[in-house]
Amino acid sequence: MSAETVPEVDPQRPSGARVYDYYLGGTHNFAADRQAAAVALAAMPELPAVLRMGRAFMRRAVAAAAGAGIEQFLDLGAGIPAPGSVPEVARAIQPTARIVSVDLDPVAVVHTRRVAAGEPGSAALLADLTDAEAVLGAEPVREILDLDRPVCLLAVAVAHFIPDTERLGRALERYREALAPGSHLVLSHACAEGSPPHAKQILRIYNHTTSPMILREKEEFRAFFGDWRLLPPGVVAAADWRPAGGDPEPGPSVRGEIIAGVAVKA
Ligand SMILES: C[S@@+](CC[C@H](N)C(=O)[O-])C[C@H]1O[C@@H](n2cnc3c(N)ncnc32)[C@H](O)[C@@H]1O
Repeated sequence: MSAETVPEVDPQRPSGARVYDYYLGGTHNFAADRQAAAVALAAMPELPAVLRMGRAFMRRAVAAAAGAGIEQFLDLGAGIPAPGSVPEVARAIQPTARIVSVDLDPVAVVHTRRVAAGEPGSAALLADLTDAEAVLGAEPVREILDLDRPVCLLAVAVAHFIPDTERLGRALERYREALAPGSHLVLSHACAEGSPPHAKQILRIYNHTTSPMILREKEEFRAFFGDWRLLPPGVVAAADWRPAGGDPEPGPSVRGEIIAGVAVKA
């Protein structure tokens, strides 16, 4: 898929990106997305809290990378821009941070381009993150990012939308190979451990959207970091990754539903 051909959007079919936008209080969603969200909410009223917990992890991980001196961010599955986004957090610490956002949802890419218009060092790419060669070779990535210097690579709340573990694993391996020492890898994932009954209902709902979903075990998730060194506290519930005051505190029944970690290339 080229960065310049944006396919038509089907407003009748819910999209994972737009449903997520709705949960976060955004307005870039259609009636079909809101209906899918309502069904999911009825099955699991804590869902928005769980998603906010994942976003809070993302902000803390971006702040940690920017605080470690990283000025370049490649955000895979970046979604529709929402408050507390990667560019906002990164530039609060590194004002000249460069950011390439990647998503396969045209609505996400169009809105990210609109927000990024006029901001030097920002671009959005319409691509499937599992096609690592296409992403790494794409013009915005080659023009905006210097892969000889550390990059913070993010795939936050997206790997569970990629059921093909082998393909995802190969793609992440290719990204890890391509990045310079000192790079950070920030990942989070819906987790199968404990497998609460409503998780299965959520899966069924998402399987009617353009983004079917899969849960993975902690060990399967950990393998996505390859031989990079996990920063303390390792792979933990997203809310337990360097918690900060003021971030959402989900109840114990949903705490383990998103696991997360950040690793560094030696
Ligand atoms: C739940 S949202 C997460 C957005 C953002 N990372 C965050 O944490 O707020 C997942 C996003 O991943 C995108 N996505 C799903 N599969 C993808 C793929 N194979 N390649 C690129 N983007 C993908 C969806 O379109 C959606 O925008």
